[in-house]
Amino acid sequence: MEKEIVLTGMRPTGKLHIGHYVGVMPRFLKIQEDTSKQLYLFIADMQALTDNAKNPVKVSNSVLEVAIDYLSCGIDPTKTTLFIQSQIPELTEITMYYANLVTVSRLQRNPTIKEEIKLRNFQNSIPAGFLMYPVSQAADITAFNAKYIPVGEDQAPLIEQAREVVEDFNRIYGETLVMPKMILPENEAAKRLPGTDGHNKMSKSLNNCIYLSDDSETVRKKVMSMYTDPNHIRVEDPGDTKNNPVFIYLDALCKDREKFQEMKEHYERGGLGDVACKKYLYQVLEELLEPIRQKRKYYEDHLDEVKEIYRKGCLAARENAKETLKRIRKAIGIIEL
Ligand code: TRP
Repeated sequence: MEKEIVLTGMRPTGKLHIGHYVGVMPRFLKIQEDTSKQLYLFIADMQALTDNAKNPVKVSNSVLEVAIDYLSCGIDPTKTTLFIQSQIPELTEITMYYANLVTVSRLQRNPTIKEEIKLRNFQNSIPAGFLMYPVSQAADITAFNAKYIPVGEDQAPLIEQAREVVEDFNRIYGETLVMPKMILPENEAAKRLPGTDGHNKMSKSLNNCIYLSDDSETVRKKVMSMYTDPNHIRVEDPGDTKNNPVFIYLDALCKDREKFQEMKEHYERGGLGDVACKKYLYQVLEELLEPIRQKRKYYEDHLDEVKEIYRKGCLAARENAKETLKRIRKAIGIIEL
């Protein structure tokens, strides 16, 4: 039986934090073990350059960091195809053919693009490459015949646009490309972890992240100074667990659901102190992070091995992209000499 392709990518713009981890990793690890599926997991370094062209070091420094993060979290190169976007030149050619099927105004109307233009203050100076990244993302997806795309909700407009490209291409040039479908995370708590300061998003610039690469003491300090319920002044006071990042993290990470439920009720009722909750969260985080840290250390000391893994992955992925490009050229009627 032919395996169904599941593909997703991430822009390398920094190390992974626990928000990334809970949002994607358990899903990836599950798909990796599913023998009816083949997972393609890639580092979208060219896409990261579309809004970091003047700061390429941010991207180049992050590529191996993310590569190591993936491996340290248990992504297994014998099961999952790991690759780096910039190493597959076929993607760029495919992007050019797709670009003819997409209008500038449709790109400008893409809600994710619109939001990012605002966020980055591009105003009337939108880099053409940036505006094109949804087209390149459609190439990423279709080059490997991906059927399922596990992403966060923010990516929905991009997958929608890729589906439009596929539909137009197949209609105009004949049935060639696989129609992709987005799949969203199941666990509500894992969809988006707030920052340690209670801000609704973990973000490097807000300095409110716990990184997979943080050492034990750093994690302890970050947890012990976390924002909780500001109205939970005395231990006896009833506390709020809904807007309390300590409980949101526990909800997303704690495997002992009975204990979590018990703590949650105790806190809400009153009589459970913040320090006790934080100490428990620290313990839960350490159980998750310590094995990752050890693997990370191994790969940091064996960078050649990391590069070799990705070199092999790129080679395998490129074979697929070449085959798809051949079919695309044939469908369009590109001359063969
Ligand atoms: N846009 C994704 C991000 O911001 C990265 C990405 C590039 C991607 N190409 C993709 C995701 C294809 C899924 C499928 O992280």
